[in-house]
Amino acid sequence: MVNTLPQSAPKQPKQGIKAPSKETVLTPRFYTTDFETAASLDLSDQQSELQAMLEEMRADYNRHHFVRDEEFEKSWEHINGEARKSFIEYLERSCISEFSGFLLFKELSRKLKQRNPLLAEIFNLMARDEARHAGFLNKAMGDFKLSLDLGEVTKTRTYTFFPIEWVIYSVYLSEKIGYWRYIIIYRHLEKHPENQFYPIFQKFESWCQDENRHGDIFKALLRSQPQLWNNWKARLWSRFFLLSVFATHTITVHERAGFYHSLGLDATEFDRQVVEKTNETAGRAFPVMLNTDHPKFFPLLHQCSDYNFQLAEIERSSQPKFIKLIRKLPFLGAIVWNLLLIYLIKPIDTEKLRGTVR
Ligand SMILES: [Fe+2]
Ligand SMILES: [Fe+2]
Repeated sequence: MVNTLPQSAPKQPKQGIKAPSKETVLTPRFYTTDFETAASLDLSDQQSELQAMLEEMRADYNRHHFVRDEEFEKSWEHINGEARKSFIEYLERSCISEFSGFLLFKELSRKLKQRNPLLAEIFNLMARDEARHAGFLNKAMGDFKLSLDLGEVTKTRTYTFFPIEWVIYSVYLSEKIGYWRYIIIYRHLEKHPENQFYPIFQKFESWCQDENRHGDIFKALLRSQPQLWNNWKARLWSRFFLLSVFATHTITVHERAGFYHSLGLDATEFDRQVVEKTNETAGRAFPVMLNTDHPKFFPLLHQCSDYNFQLAEIERSSQPKFIKLIRKLPFLGAIVWNLLLIYLIKPIDTEKLRGTVR
């Protein structure tokens, strides 16, 4: 497993190397899984679908896409203050998340090579895409005189173990939510080019197609395992993963409202669009989707985001750790309670809808 990598002592960051931001429950995670079970997955139900996806991945449509053209060769000193800070944070978070995909796919590809060559090649090509994405973002950080030492990040981050079933649910969702985030920003800037303050956003249209393809591969994996969609447990897990991805999204987008504002986007509206679109898309793979039209759905999520601001304020205070914890407890409890209330909103059964015209 990847998590056996040696843990080295934290070093002082070199000049121009950004110390990675502190890990919290909201920062993108690094995953490891049970590779033995992954290798023994019976994919026969989706064999032709996966073969077709492999051909698409081999075609490598974005081979020449991630090139830093002359548009990047400028000084970016005029982006300063809060806008600079929030943009760097956005780049870092995106880079870590792309890089986390790279590590997981690369490891899956390596471990499956002998026993499942089809899947191993697909994962290898997905790792290729994510390495390009992470590298491109890291170079963008370089334009702001900072970059992440990804080798160091690999060694020092903690790896979370997820059974392969959870990996399938959560990677599927993170690819699809990634697709919607990129495309919604791209389409918005197409209409409002005056807000395009840095050329990376122009790359998002073809970029998001990579994420869409990755999502489709995970959809095929999910549908190849009937136990992941044809029973009550699968419905409960699907609701859980949908809700955790959406809650994380709502909270982090509101935390970074300044960045979205600099793009001329309203954070709440952007978040709503991304959540609704991802939920709708997930309905094609998951046995249920959440009822985002329920009058309580977004208000409860927004409350969670407000409580998160309160938590951050407490954290910033100079009080002793213990006092901070006591003060935080009611807000943590309120977040858990709100999430539970959202979880209990009756979901939409997508298996029933399948085959009917929608
Ligand atoms: Fe990616
Ligand atoms: Fe991806």
